[in-house]
Amino acid sequence: MLTDLLQEELSGLKEKNLYRRILSLKSLRGPKALLEGREILLFCGNDYLGLSQHPRVIEAAQNAAERYGVGSGAARLISGTSDLHEQLERELAQLKKKERALVFTAGYLANLGVLTALAGEKDLIVMDKFCHASLIDGARLSGASLRVFPHKNYERCEELLSKTDSFSKKILVSDTVFSMDGDLADLKELIRIKEKYGALLVVDRRDAF
Ligand SMILES: Cc1ncc(COP(=O)(O)O)c(C=O)c1O
Repeated sequence: MLTDLLQEELSGLKEKNLYRRILSLKSLRGPKALLEGREILLFCGNDYLGLSQHPRVIEAAQNAAERYGVGSGAARLISGTSDLHEQLERELAQLKKKERALVFTAGYLANLGVLTALAGEKDLIVMDKFCHASLIDGARLSGASLRVFPHKNYERCEELLSKTDSFSKKILVSDTVFSMDGDLADLKELIRIKEKYGALLVVDRRDAF
């Protein structure tokens, strides 16, 4: 029976301590929340500056909901892009001093979108072993060949990039702040390597804001 099989898989996850359940938190202010009636400090979220609770951010969201309603009603590529999206992307690009910006609804989707847009079957992706799961999924979905170097082992990274003449594009991929251990990639070294081997460099910069 299907349910027995699923139960077996769930038990397997529990035995390996890999079973996860969804926690329901009530957000208080910035890093503080209530979990099952207890006040706790969050070290695992992305609302680093507590902007989700900032009165001006809340007011802007209320005004936007009144003018535009809630939800864009369609995918961005179909009919879900409004002048508000465009304004946000224009201002983000100005803030980051870049030509353009593209906003995704989650980091996971950004990584999937970037790697599937840049890489295809004829290309090679060389990636740090500790990259976030979304970069690994994006690389797999792109259909490119994927080679992984041990965490921050840039000698091995160079070796992988040096034997790649048959590929059309080479794409070097790294987190900047690694999400599991919080350590940092050596960006200067990554730039040196990507220039030496004519690769594109994609970095996941969650520290940027
Ligand atoms: C480095 C890194 N990239 C991507 C993601 C995925 O982002 P999101 O949770 O917004 O989907 C995370 C998540 O924490 C992350 O730490």
